[in-house]
Amino acid sequence: MDKLVIEGGKRLHGRVTISGAKNASLAMMPAALLASGVYHFSNTPNLRDVYTMSRLLGSMGLFCELNGNDLLIDANNITSLEAPYELVKKMRASFYVLGPLIARFGEARVSLPGGCAWGPRPVDLHLKGLEKLGAEITLEAGYVHAKCQKLKGAKFHFDISSVGATGNVLMAATLAKGTTLLSNAAIEPEITSLARMLVKMGAKIDGIGTSQLEIEGVDTLNAVDFETIPDRIEAATFLIAGAMTKGKIILENTNPYHLTSVLEKLEESGCKIDVTGESILLEMEDIPKPVDITTSIYPGIPTDIQAQWMAYMLKADGTSKITENIYTDRFKHVPELLRLGADVQIADNVAIIKGGKQLSGATVMSSDLRASASLILAALVADGSSEVLRIYHLDRGYEAIEKKLIGLGAIVKRVKSELI
Ligand code: UD1
Repeated sequence: MDKLVIEGGKRLHGRVTISGAKNASLAMMPAALLASGVYHFSNTPNLRDVYTMSRLLGSMGLFCELNGNDLLIDANNITSLEAPYELVKKMRASFYVLGPLIARFGEARVSLPGGCAWGPRPVDLHLKGLEKLGAEITLEAGYVHAKCQKLKGAKFHFDISSVGATGNVLMAATLAKGTTLLSNAAIEPEITSLARMLVKMGAKIDGIGTSQLEIEGVDTLNAVDFETIPDRIEAATFLIAGAMTKGKIILENTNPYHLTSVLEKLEESGCKIDVTGESILLEMEDIPKPVDITTSIYPGIPTDIQAQWMAYMLKADGTSKITENIYTDRFKHVPELLRLGADVQIADNVAIIKGGKQLSGATVMSSDLRASASLILAALVADGSSEVLRIYHLDRGYEAIEKKLIGLGAIVKRVKSELI
């Protein structure tokens, strides 16, 4: 199992190209179950989660091949309507296959994802939405078994705004008979991009980019070529790395509009930010000011940068507060940050971070994707050397992270490790 060895204290400078968005790819790929034909997805990130989704689709008879960042999916031959536990347990986004399968084939058997490192993470809204469209859902031996003759359009309100449930129900509604009205739908850019791809496939969707979606079902859809949007979470992580190390970095291939709330907070903390087209320049000369954040749905501060922001605030000259409103116990990174010398206290969904203490290198353990990113950020500014173990979590969501960091001047080495 690989680990990263990081020498702290280097100021980051230079240019880095941001990859395609993991969470956009993971929604686009299952959409290929909606129509036969050959799909080409450009700007696809080379990530473990993309390989896992390819394996899952492969187990259903589709052919997936990633050449550089071009993903080809041949969806002409679908041989299985089942998503097995072995793959779903590796990645919750596997649950996305449920909506397309039931809509197109009238049947699906998908393992329940179970919990994850930071809590239970239910799928009740996915199931309620599909039931509203007419799917009969039973739970058998840890699997969701969904059946229907033909889905029928319906009104459905998401009690909580959910990225995954919106994607699933939206995909299903494209092939339902009649009109579906979805309210309190997620408006995260990855869902908006999925909706745009579905429209290119021939779906009829109004209200894209808003929380009210109106979908007029069609009989069939077509395979398409589509470009994956830039990864806003990867971009935010590099911006924070630049800010923490008092660096000067330029991000290429971003969509700055997807990052407005994060850019605003970075400016509040003292960074100079300059946006030109798809590039973002960040320059930081001072010790950051303490800045509180509250995670929320888009366009608010994403929960997926909460752990990285906490690492940043360890450098601030004062105390700051993080309120985690999406996953209220998503604080697995805290005990590991404490091992690097951090002063963080948690009470319910609130973290109080006392900045200004010099961190010192240590061996730390990744527990999940964004926690790993936060440990790497902290290690970049710690005295001496740190080892970040179990970085397979990182490989799920950051394409070539150590190469990109090295390109910006960091001293980072990937080492094969026997430690787990
Ligand atoms: C997606 C992202 C993940 C991100 C999260 C929140 C992907 C592959 N993953 O996850 O990186 O952290 O959005 O932005 O895109 N909920 C329910 N019932 C459900 C579904 C969700 O109660 O059926 C709750 C969740 O517990 C959570 C909230 O809704 O509190 C939002 O979760 P959701 O948007 O569904 O997250 P995911 O789609 O799983």
